[in-house]
Amino acid sequence: MPYAHLTSRRDGAIERLTLNRPAVRNAFDDEMIAELTAWADAIALDQEVRAVIVSGAGPVFCAGADLAWMAKTIEYTEAENVEDARRASRMFRAIDRLPIPVVGRVHGAALGGGAGLAATCDVVVAETDAMFGFTEVKLGIIPAVISPFVLAKIGRSAARELFLTGRRFTAQHALDVGLVHAVVPAADLDATVDAVVREVLAGGREAIAAAKTLIARISAAQGLDEAETIAAEALAQRRVSVEGQEGLRAFLEKRRPRWSGP
Ligand code: COA
Repeated sequence: MPYAHLTSRRDGAIERLTLNRPAVRNAFDDEMIAELTAWADAIALDQEVRAVIVSGAGPVFCAGADLAWMAKTIEYTEAENVEDARRASRMFRAIDRLPIPVVGRVHGAALGGGAGLAATCDVVVAETDAMFGFTEVKLGIIPAVISPFVLAKIGRSAARELFLTGRRFTAQHALDVGLVHAVVPAADLDATVDAVVREVLAGGREAIAAAKTLIARISAAQGLDEAETIAAEALAQRRVSVEGQEGLRAFLEKRRPRWSGP
């Protein structure tokens, strides 16, 4: 599907998504939010895709909300602003819940919603010089829509410091708080992203999707009893699945598993 603000390219089983508004540092406006949501909804149903790489065109990954577009929301009614926030929430949720591993490739900067987008990725690789920030309070607003995804990644302690100061922070600090998973020199960024993708391509497609669902469900479980039930049922389903049986058999027969499907 052709997009105005995104480019999506299929490379075998890998979907390469690039935010493509470099003139405004890939900032999100309503059109881009709609496109990203439509893209994620389509990818969620695409059985051919085994991994997604999200990156940004131009000098930075993503500068967050488009501040020129956001300025117009001053004229919105409260109900219109709530609707608007819900549309953005739906976009982040659609990416967060993709049943496919999503790898974020962060260069330059990831600020506000851009850092929120990184939080919806399963694995984030950042270049050493990349700059992060939940800078919303500097603009008199708050990192509201992204907060469920960011809190799930960095926890309350780091969020209190970073949301309240709004300070910009280094890739190393993003690594320390769990927002990113690897920090590498710019020259190694693509090779590191490719290595992560190779890892996930070696796993079972359904198992990876089930692992992602498991993390979300266990995190939302009320107490250990519910968590145990969720875990037991999820594991039982995997053990009796064709994919689970093939994976175990391949290990015992000392061969590579032959996953069905692409
Ligand atoms: N919304 C709208 N436009 C943005 C933008 C945003 N979030 N971030 C950058 N731009 C625009 C700038 O206004 C500028 O437009 P112009 O060329 O018409 O003057 C253009 O993108 C380039 O910005 P510039 O600051 O010169 O780019 P840079 O590469 O030196 O720095 C950033 C990139 C992302 C570090 C810097 O632009 C920045 O800090 N942006 C603000 C991000 C922010 O506060 N986001 C939080 C949103 S809640």
